[in-house]
Amino acid sequence: MERYIGRDLARPDGPAKVEGRAVYVADLDVPGAWVGGVVRSTVARGLLLGLDFDPGFDWRTVAVATAADVPGENVVALIADDQPLLVAREIEHWGEPLALVAAPDELQLARALAAVRPRIEARAACFDLERSPRVFKSIRVAQGDAGAVFRDVPPGARVVEGTYRTDSQEQLYVETQGFVAFPPASDGSVTVRGSLQCPHYVQKALARALGIAPEEARVVQLATGGGFGGKEDYPSVLACHAALLARVARRPVRLILGRHEDLAVTPKRHPARVRVRAAFAADGTGLALEADVLFDGGAYTTLSPVVLSRGVLHASGPYRWPAAEIRGSVVATNHVPYGAFRGFGAPQTCLAIERLMDRAARELGIHPFELRLRNALRPGDTTVTGQRLEHSVGSLEVLEAIARRTGFDRHAWGAPHAESGPRRRGLGFSFFFHGAGFTGSGEELLRGRVSLALLPDGRVEVLAGSTEIGQGTQALFTAIAAEALGADAADVVLATPDTARVPDSGPTVASRTCMVVGGVLAAAAAELRQRVGDGAASWRERARAFLAGGGDGAVTRAYAPPPGARWDEHSYRGDAYPVYGWAADVAEVFVDEDTGEVDVARLWTAVDVGRALQPRLVTGQIEGGALQAVGWAHREVVSARDGRCEQDRLATCIVPTTLDAPRFDVTLVEVPYPGGPFGAKGVGELPMDGGAPAVLSAIEDATGIHPAQVPATPERILDLLVARAEEAHA
Ligand code: MOS
Repeated sequence: MERYIGRDLARPDGPAKVEGRAVYVADLDVPGAWVGGVVRSTVARGLLLGLDFDPGFDWRTVAVATAADVPGENVVALIADDQPLLVAREIEHWGEPLALVAAPDELQLARALAAVRPRIEARAACFDLERSPRVFKSIRVAQGDAGAVFRDVPPGARVVEGTYRTDSQEQLYVETQGFVAFPPASDGSVTVRGSLQCPHYVQKALARALGIAPEEARVVQLATGGGFGGKEDYPSVLACHAALLARVARRPVRLILGRHEDLAVTPKRHPARVRVRAAFAADGTGLALEADVLFDGGAYTTLSPVVLSRGVLHASGPYRWPAAEIRGSVVATNHVPYGAFRGFGAPQTCLAIERLMDRAARELGIHPFELRLRNALRPGDTTVTGQRLEHSVGSLEVLEAIARRTGFDRHAWGAPHAESGPRRRGLGFSFFFHGAGFTGSGEELLRGRVSLALLPDGRVEVLAGSTEIGQGTQALFTAIAAEALGADAADVVLATPDTARVPDSGPTVASRTCMVVGGVLAAAAAELRQRVGDGAASWRERARAFLAGGGDGAVTRAYAPPPGARWDEHSYRGDAYPVYGWAADVAEVFVDEDTGEVDVARLWTAVDVGRALQPRLVTGQIEGGALQAVGWAHREVVSARDGRCEQDRLATCIVPTTLDAPRFDVTLVEVPYPGGPFGAKGVGELPMDGGAPAVLSAIEDATGIHPAQVPATPERILDLLVARAEEAHA
């Protein structure tokens, strides 16, 4: 009988956050700390000829750091090392850091920042991903001979194609990014504390920039107000800046981005253009797929190669394609570098394939639900990378659940509307999957570790690098540990993610914390339980007796990939992910044909989570992700003028509030994954993938137009409605 699995635990981090006691970076009391700021480029591309320091300012009152002051390598260590911490000469994007200043207070900091005058020679910049001079990374996935199918289309078959575009999107975590850095200790070691997802990424970046060993860089996570991917890569930049300032100022420095600065310079979702074409037999069976995926990476590589990888690997949708050819590239422009955001490339390609399925349904005269059902990957099928799906394939279960809940399979989608007046109702559909954990051999290379330490009083301390960023890591890990130990939740203590204490569990990204790290935690706890032994006495009594008898209460376990998993990074063939989450959405919208405004009234979603360890948390993850998807679908405009973000304040950076949220109806489907803790698999990103195509599908149902771009703003909807009206008159 399980005590903690499937039952909601109170969040360990909840009370302190609700009562205002949680310590975020802005709350950290650091005596003698100065405040830091960044001198930034005002052009998107150019040459930094020099920095002039106003002689009227008393520079002895502040500390300044430039590229020349970087003691190690002037790079942000991520994938390609092409991004400098501070510009030495070439400027590649608006807002790029040119110099750093620390001052005793905000006023003096503002004066000092204004007294630095960069001399910049502006150069022509590129903002168009289709005219980029440089490719960061290209990937090709191929199965069978798709080209042959399109060259010689079988009799009765039909080819359907479309080009779909998605704009960027801002994560808009509630807490802006920030760090407090301390000056180097006498042994050269450095400590930073801040808001982040991945302490060991920051540690690696600090070591490179400061020219020290990774163990000499200590990174401690403070309470973190959301991340959504936005605190995956950028904290590496900010922590290095703060540490550099602390070094030159010889005192602690607090470097916290204001909201304007955070919106203007931190990475957002990659804009994309995706061309797709597919061939179907007359009965709707998919014969071949071709996709051409193009992502704007912005000025530096950051995490773009892996974002592209996920985008390409999800471009097929959750469908069987006997032949497929998917080509993807992420290219350089002079936009602020794009980075990780929930979904990590998949929402862009999911939008394209799902819109194409709707178009195909219309052209084939097959119900869009039926077309998905006919082509859905099932247990035993192979994906476009040749991965045979054996475990936890909840595709048919989620389709059945969404049909039962909404009746969409009987909805006359796309039929002309009898209703009159400008306000049109529509229902739309999407079907999608998302690989959980790192791509390919990622988890095998990473070997994420978790340690347990039995404390003298018999409680168990969980040591993991996974971070609580609002998603519920602490409640989840407490439940997993207590269940696997056979102990009470009160017997479990969670260590702060502090690189000096916790092992590298891998980053808190890629829908991997519950499934991968939680799985390692469950295995470690089972081992400790085995050592301590079961019995009638309480866990603490048994644990204390075990320690008194000289027992070893320290356990460390590492991730072991599922047996038989294989992946070829070169050919992109094999098991792209350990397992997939599956989901289907139905959106109900009202479109005002006079104004182009879209109101998303309801969103039903059925999600195969493997096992709902903490039902309220997983439902929260699903509703939150779906709301971000709905916002991206029609409301959230992110644009740049001359490379500068135009929505750099909350007055113009619009995301849905609770008042804008549709009514959610979440159905949890449980097809257990044997490789995950108690059958669970990753679900963090999945809900971000299906909302936008479902909303666009519903707009099509309501109006007859075929929106092909996200966000489907009123202006874009009106353009399509006007074109439709002109066509009707022609
Ligand atoms: Mo993420 S978008 O894998 O933090």
